[in-house]
Amino acid sequence: MTLSSRPVWQHPWVFILAAAGSAVGLGNLWKFPYIVGENGGGAFILVYLVCITLMGLPILFAEAFVGQRAQANPVSAVGQLASASKRSPRWAGIGALGMITGALILSFYSVVAGWSLDYIWSSASGVLAAIQPDDSAAIFTSLTANPERLLLWHTVFMLTTLAIVGFGVQRGLGNATKVLMPLLFLMLIGLFVYACTQGAMAKSFAFLFEFNTEKLTPYSIAEAVGHAFFTLSIGMGAIMAYGAYLPNTIPIARTVLAIAVIDTLVALTAGLVIFATVFSYEGMSPSSGPGLLFIALPVAMGALPYSEVITTLFFGLVAIAALSSAISLLEPATAWFVETRGWSRWRTVLALGALIWALGIASALSLNYWSEVKLMGLAILDLLDKLTTLILLPVGGLLTAIFVGWRLPIAWLERALIDEPAWLVRGLIILLRWVAPLLLLGSMVYQINDFIQ
Ligand code: TRP
Repeated sequence: MTLSSRPVWQHPWVFILAAAGSAVGLGNLWKFPYIVGENGGGAFILVYLVCITLMGLPILFAEAFVGQRAQANPVSAVGQLASASKRSPRWAGIGALGMITGALILSFYSVVAGWSLDYIWSSASGVLAAIQPDDSAAIFTSLTANPERLLLWHTVFMLTTLAIVGFGVQRGLGNATKVLMPLLFLMLIGLFVYACTQGAMAKSFAFLFEFNTEKLTPYSIAEAVGHAFFTLSIGMGAIMAYGAYLPNTIPIARTVLAIAVIDTLVALTAGLVIFATVFSYEGMSPSSGPGLLFIALPVAMGALPYSEVITTLFFGLVAIAALSSAISLLEPATAWFVETRGWSRWRTVLALGALIWALGIASALSLNYWSEVKLMGLAILDLLDKLTTLILLPVGGLLTAIFVGWRLPIAWLERALIDEPAWLVRGLIILLRWVAPLLLLGSMVYQINDFIQ
């Protein structure tokens, strides 16, 4: 493929939306609230915010930088920059590791996204109208206990993801996010306003923002680090792949900042809304685990007029947020096959999709038939989640920070930051070279040490 025929975003704004669409997803709406609940609230959030600022931001920048500078898929991009700066071609392994990580994440992500599809169905058919906490919990349990339903929705979600990625950057990725993201923001703001008037918002605020270190364990720190990567979509090359469709002339530092801010605001808003509901009903607990979003929100919305419509819309948007993230998990590997193997997009997407879909079946069945099959004490879905979030993404991020911070000429970074004020340039470079890698290494050593004992 010649350089001039490479796809580009129609407008830099579409890059921001697509990258924000990648970042905002189940991580914000589903995972963040429930891990905050399990880790006791305030102190966990503080660690998480520190991770976003000190490691997330610089690595997000580094990824966008690599993609934009090389204008190629992550494997080729890292490889090209390595060879242009006379470094080992083995750095391209960062891209290869990322493609595998992406496939592993997508396999279970699609199963959870399938839950939201099932909930669209049940909301629209009125099953969730005026529902109370106990019934809501029972409905969630009956879904995860039902392999046929899980597999049906997992399949539907995978097919939709494949179709969008198959249509390519402009018609698929770009057009999809331009409509979907603004809709999601509006809906969240609406729910937030409602929760302020009806729910236990003050308690929810206190739970999220009151500092309470007792609950902070080594494990919860690892979860905060891992989740910072997961929620920003960094550590596997997704943002590199998206950055590659951004012309070299567009400054990326502000863009990257906008993405991190949007992502964090969405997560915090979702958390506030969900806990405002949890605290206004007896019998709901913040630490109820992966079912939290699916149990709490139908209860909150079930009390509203036109609750069927609102609940259906809400889970529609959860599905959409999941979709705009899922496509970014598939794009790096797709771009690699298309650009270096000469495969068509559709052929690539079908081949990769079949593999990931099959792997997803194991996650779906681990919730019911195979719930006793455990590796290191974890069922398959949990295992894939922990393996990718706690290990593979941080390792990918660490390697990226070292590669961009230490192996590439500093002048390249400075050129990419030419429009920015001096303090920002210096700050970003210090974060990337020192703060992010040292914090990451420190937390890894701490975890390993804790694990051994
Ligand atoms: N960030 C997304 C979420 O919060 C998930 C996601 C999309 C992701 N692409 C990624 C996670 C790449 C890690 C790496 O739901």
